[in-house]
Amino acid sequence: MEMDKGRVEVEDVVIRFGTRDSAVTALDRTNLVLEPGTFTALIGPSGCGKSTLMNAIAGFVQPAEGRITLDGAQIRGPSPDVGVIFQQYALFPWFTALGNIRFGLKQFGFSKREEIDRARAALDEVGLGPHAEKYPQQLSGGMKQRVAIARTFATGAKVLLMDEPFGALDAQTRIVMHELLLNVWRKHRATVLFVTHDVDEALLLADDVRVMSQAPGRLIRHYAMTQPRPRALSRSGSDLLEIREDILGLLRPTTEPLPEPAH
Ligand SMILES: Nc1ncnc2c1ncn2[C@@H]1O[C@H](COP(=O)(O)OP(=O)(O)OP(=O)(O)O)[C@@H](O)[C@H]1O
Ligand SMILES: [Mg+2]
Repeated sequence: MEMDKGRVEVEDVVIRFGTRDSAVTALDRTNLVLEPGTFTALIGPSGCGKSTLMNAIAGFVQPAEGRITLDGAQIRGPSPDVGVIFQQYALFPWFTALGNIRFGLKQFGFSKREEIDRARAALDEVGLGPHAEKYPQQLSGGMKQRVAIARTFATGAKVLLMDEPFGALDAQTRIVMHELLLNVWRKHRATVLFVTHDVDEALLLADDVRVMSQAPGRLIRHYAMTQPRPRALSRSGSDLLEIREDILGLLRPTTEPLPEPAH
């Protein structure tokens, strides 16, 4: 496997929605580099543009200004190199767990045998081997997200974008998913960008934690996390607790009154 792939560069990117008269700037002059194989967490207030940034890297949305590249090539649309996992489970209900992963592999022209073997290996990797023939409605939320993770890694995506992927899961399941994600990420060495509302989740998982400001979003703070994993926030005197306080302070809503709506 090539180790130097999966570098994402976001350069002076501005994203607007709407027409010229009623345009909303969702993302303002944003610069971000995701080094190959690193795990970056993105945190910020609701509506600040986190999903917009993800959608732009995924190629679903085009910037009005600036550019986004993957290994030097401009991203102009969705590609199998960039996998996306959303909070809402995005599995096809009419395919089994195995079928969902096979579908993701269709574009690569594997033989039927190889396609099945790869899909099964990916399911085994996330601990779902025994559930290969189940349909999404027969799987728990955590299991569905495991299928989604398996699908992304089965296709060999270099970049994995996760938009609050565990937001709908209970606390216990989240802990299991964190461990699983870190294991799979280490093995495949994909570049991960992980959006979350949960400061603790960001601190436990990421190499880099990026904080965004209120809308229109800009990246305002960067923490390089060097603490070895598995990390624990409960340890008193841990510098993780200091960073957590710092981030919570940045995210605390300002007490200024909202401006009057224009008429
Ligand atoms: N397709 C769209 N059309 C118009 N406006 C949009 C569109 N997508 C996002 N926006 C606007 O862009 C801004 C940023 O939205 P975005 O969904 O990126 O925020 P977010 O940080 O992901 O919020 P949350 O934490 O609630 O998920 C918001 O003002 C939103 O209303
Ligand atoms: Mg969002």
